[in-house]
Amino acid sequence: MIIAIDGPAASGKGTLGKRLATHYGLRHLDTGLLYRAVAKALLDAGHSPNNQARAVAAADAIDPASFDEGALKSHAVGEAASLVSAIPDVRAALLAFQRSFAARPPGAVLDGRDIGTVICPNADVKIFVTATAQVRAHRRLLEFQRRGEPVDEAAVLADILRRDERDMSRAAAPLKQAADAHMLDTTELNADAAFAQAAELVERVRRR
Ligand code: DC
Repeated sequence: MIIAIDGPAASGKGTLGKRLATHYGLRHLDTGLLYRAVAKALLDAGHSPNNQARAVAAADAIDPASFDEGALKSHAVGEAASLVSAIPDVRAALLAFQRSFAARPPGAVLDGRDIGTVICPNADVKIFVTATAQVRAHRRLLEFQRRGEPVDEAAVLADILRRDERDMSRAAAPLKQAADAHMLDTTELNADAAFAQAAELVERVRRR
């Protein structure tokens, strides 16, 4: 079984993806980490996230087995990831890894921006997770605070709005709901309620 989860920044798709994977005994891939790893490699080497040749070389060289998730989740790396992810050749370099991850038995949950539209268009279940920008900004703020990263809520909201705009308007695999994806609005839902609704969707597909 392949479950594709897409949605904007801080919509809750990562938490949901992890829980669905554990519940159904599937492997989980947070595909945002791939773009973040490319971005971090560029930043660490002192290159601009807009340097296409360096970005493609970094994408070809990433090793997901060695990811340090804590370091990849920083604010600066997220901003740079949004830039490198708009480079078509970077997306092309990361495509095969994602598809082969999804294809390996017993299947997987992948979350990102283009899973249901580009990476796994034949996924068994597609969920498009969303929430208002204000609620997402507040969740992101709490995440940064837990990590001890000082940020201001208005700045986080401005970043989220800018990131949404960039992720939705880029030419290469923009963030959009697949025609056959189920919309899950988590604005009023906590993680348990979001999981319960998503599991219900998966069960409906399994009964068919
Ligand atoms: O979900 P995230 O915040 O970790 O993603 C970081 C950036 O990577 C985000 O701005 C858009 C990009 N991304 C993407 O373009 N495609 C994906 N499948 C996942 C992430």
